Amino acid sequence: SSKDSFSIVVFGASGDLAKKKTYPAIFELFSQGLLPSRMRIMGYARSSKTDEDFRESLRVYIKSSDSARVEAFLAMCYYRNGSGYDDEEGFATAIAEMHELEQADGPVAANRVFYLALPPTVFSKAGAVIKAKGMSESGWNRVVVEKPFGKDSASSAKLSATLAKHFTEDQIYRIDHYLGKEMVQNLMVMRFGNAVFEPIWNRHYVKMVTITFKEPFGIASRAGYFDQYGIIRDIMQNHLTQVMSIVAMEPPVSLSAEDVRDEKVKVLRSVVPVREEDTVTGQYRGDSDHNAYLEEEGVPEGSTTPTFATTVVFIQNQRWNGVPFILKCGKGLNERKAEVRVQFRDAPHFLYAGGARGQVHAVKQTPLDQGTAARSRAPSGASAGGVAAAAAGSGAVAGAGACSVASTGGAHSVDDDGRGFDGGWHCAAASGPSNELVIRIQPEAAVYLKVMSKMPGLDNVISSSELNLSFDDRFPLRKSPEAYARLILDVMRGDQSQFVRSDELAAAWAIFTPLLHRLEGGPGYEALGPKAPVLYRFGSRGPVEADLLLNGYGFTYDRSYARSWRRQM
Ligand code: BG6
Repeated sequence: SSKDSFSIVVFGASGDLAKKKTYPAIFELFSQGLLPSRMRIMGYARSSKTDEDFRESLRVYIKSSDSARVEAFLAMCYYRNGSGYDDEEGFATAIAEMHELEQADGPVAANRVFYLALPPTVFSKAGAVIKAKGMSESGWNRVVVEKPFGKDSASSAKLSATLAKHFTEDQIYRIDHYLGKEMVQNLMVMRFGNAVFEPIWNRHYVKMVTITFKEPFGIASRAGYFDQYGIIRDIMQNHLTQVMSIVAMEPPVSLSAEDVRDEKVKVLRSVVPVREEDTVTGQYRGDSDHNAYLEEEGVPEGSTTPTFATTVVFIQNQRWNGVPFILKCGKGLNERKAEVRVQFRDAPHFLYAGGARGQVHAVKQTPLDQGTAARSRAPSGASAGGVAAAAAGSGAVAGAGACSVASTGGAHSVDDDGRGFDGGWHCAAASGPSNELVIRIQPEAAVYLKVMSKMPGLDNVISSSELNLSFDDRFPLRKSPEAYARLILDVMRGDQSQFVRSDELAAAWAIFTPLLHRLEGGPGYEALGPKAPVLYRFGSRGPVEADLLLNGYGFTYDRSYARSWRRQM
């Protein structure tokens, strides 16, 4: 109730995660008046620090022009330390003090969140100490844990078993911060709040789905963590797999946490473990401005840890059988982007193909064709040149037959050949008539549907355009919260629907464990040893081999979204 006292204990409070994510997210909730008034946040770690010193170290991360608000927030934050995360006595002393504060205004129910911003090596120690000395007896207790949740099926199961010794599943909140992102939350609304999508959301209409995560920077100072885990565990097994499960799951019975997670588990259990031959892993090499992965501080010599991976996932169920779900993620790439692309099957008979006489007909670049490559719909391996052109970031490849004229990226633009007024229809689309629904998670949350449209003019040119829902433009007064703020609010409210359940985690690991073992020369593959990733240039689109792999599955590399409609306004 509103009279309850509420405390958050942040383990690992002086670490990066706590300072950069946890505290700013709690501050965001505070700023919006979403925190209860009887509330305190106790940082807990090993180094000894006064409250004042600790507040000082937080101040730089709490960004706000309202200094009174910052001070009011910092006043709620204090700090205690123990000699280690298994120091029962030190923790008991800190909790006793917290208990005093909770009950300062008379007896109330005390609710506690234990936020474990800790490396996995000390998870179980901290869990044991919380269980022994930290639990409130007068209110609820919830424990938030952050990945990595193990390294493969077996180690993850072990970790889950350890946590289960101390806490019940309804007390455990496994964070995957992608589930807190605005557009990921909107995925379910798009799918289940609109009648138009459901009939086509299946193998009969969907050709393939791609889920992409790209970052234009390397691993910075995180070698110690990253080299042990690699991109498949850092991004693919969790963030991309979670997004995929929401794209692919059946409608849940209700929005309750168990109903939603039951469906996610079900679809993940239908996924066939990914195969080595459907996977390309890469590692960035440097240039004059950037370190190669192998040159980053703390990366061991000769490391084969991938910083890039593409794989093709198949879901064996009635809805998705045969539809490739392409997961692609990497660091040190050409841009920052996370998006889902649902590519629909081509129109069965395209009336506007190739102009009146079936000529390949080029027109001037349209405003929306900016800077990325276009490729014909030519099926797998039809032209190695196509792959090369795409990999180079621009190019135009005309396929046989249909509407395949493409021209993008300034220097490669082909001018109108002067036959624009001969009465026929001309197609300026980059890649033929296949509709595509794009859900862009970041940057700039947007949903758009690519459709063919006539361009204004007597010359009867049609082009691929977008029906556009850009969040910034449509909802200019509404701010997207930080993913962590949303998720911490859910913890306070006791809503577990956007947290990963233990069976869900196990199902996600099952998809990637055989592949990881193969790539690393792990159990069963010792004789083969680790597989070397393909090197790719820092700042590129990743290895060309990844494009070749996807070509084999009929993937069309298309232009990225450019805000044509806005420029036209
Ligand atoms: C984290 C990964 O989970 O997600 C990082 O450990 C990655 O490697 C980060 O940079 C990306 O998150 P976001 O919200 O910036 O897309």
